[in-house]
Amino acid sequence: MFLSVSSLATAPPGSPNEMSNLTMSAPTPTSQTSALTPAPNDNAVAPAVTAPAFDVRNLSIWYGEKQAIKNISIEIPAKTVTAIIGPSGCGKSTFLRCLNRMHELVPHTRVDGEILFHGENLYRPGSDPAMARRRIGMVFQKSNPFPTMSIEENVLVGLRLNGVRDRHILNERLERSLRMAALWDEVKNDLKKPGMSISGGQQQRLCIARAIAVEPEVLLMDEPCSALDPIATARVEELIRELRTRYTIVIVTHNMQQASRVSDKTAFFYVGELIEFGDTAQIFSSPRERKTEDYITGRFG
Ligand SMILES: Nc1ncnc2c1ncn2[C@@H]1O[C@H](COP(=O)(O)OP(=O)(O)OP(=O)(O)O)[C@@H](O)[C@H]1O
Ligand SMILES: [Mg+2]
Repeated sequence: MFLSVSSLATAPPGSPNEMSNLTMSAPTPTSQTSALTPAPNDNAVAPAVTAPAFDVRNLSIWYGEKQAIKNISIEIPAKTVTAIIGPSGCGKSTFLRCLNRMHELVPHTRVDGEILFHGENLYRPGSDPAMARRRIGMVFQKSNPFPTMSIEENVLVGLRLNGVRDRHILNERLERSLRMAALWDEVKNDLKKPGMSISGGQQQRLCIARAIAVEPEVLLMDEPCSALDPIATARVEELIRELRTRYTIVIVTHNMQQASRVSDKTAFFYVGELIEFGDTAQIFSSPRERKTEDYITGRFG
């Protein structure tokens, strides 16, 4: 929504192109508590009905011969938080990576179907994957600060790649992003220290700050809190709630309480298929599918 960044997402550590993307967005909560889950979101506000950010149609994804996503169709609303849940290996990360073309960095993948992003085919011939990654940022499970850069440089790299030179703007964005990622107070006196010199949980929040700094439209988060302690987790969840009115957020989580707390919509994946998608309150209180119920109640997964 602001400066377009060039690519710098938070590519998975070790991925072929670590500097290749980043972005984000936000949603609204749900109401109702469920017998199956923890207390839902008290601040829940019904999201306004808007055109979907992503209209995914008959999406299938293969790694070589192995099909990881099987003919999934789903409309992911804009300015809403959508949680993706499901057992390990069901295709959550694969699906997420496809939403900003990060999967293209993985060799031997093939995609069939269509993903419309605000009505435009994300995969139309000739379209630039780096552009998609600028608008659709990503935060991965494993933090991946750029190892040769300081804390400050890590946050600002996207803006700099984008040509922003004004020190005032850079300083302002640095502090704002670090504050939003609940890291400012811990690093404000150490901004020149290496990004790798802080704790794992702090590095993860640094990666979140890096994704936020370029003000993407969508933020994809793949288990962003799995390495965080409960306090940092609560702060990231708070951040997600703050961002929901401005960004579209898609978060993969294994934490049912977290899905219930932060998301407006929930999609349940199972062995590459989308089993159920609906309002989070409904999914957790009265799932339509037996498999969904079994999963959220811990009967399998
Ligand atoms: N780079 C890859 N090459 C080959 N197969 C892969 C690759 N990445 C994932 N897969 C396979 O695709 C399927 C979906 O994997 P994916 O990582 O999307 O699952 P996930 O739901 O994110 O799991 P987890 O909860 O453990 O992170 C799995 O069977 C996995 O083994
Ligand atoms: Mg995964």
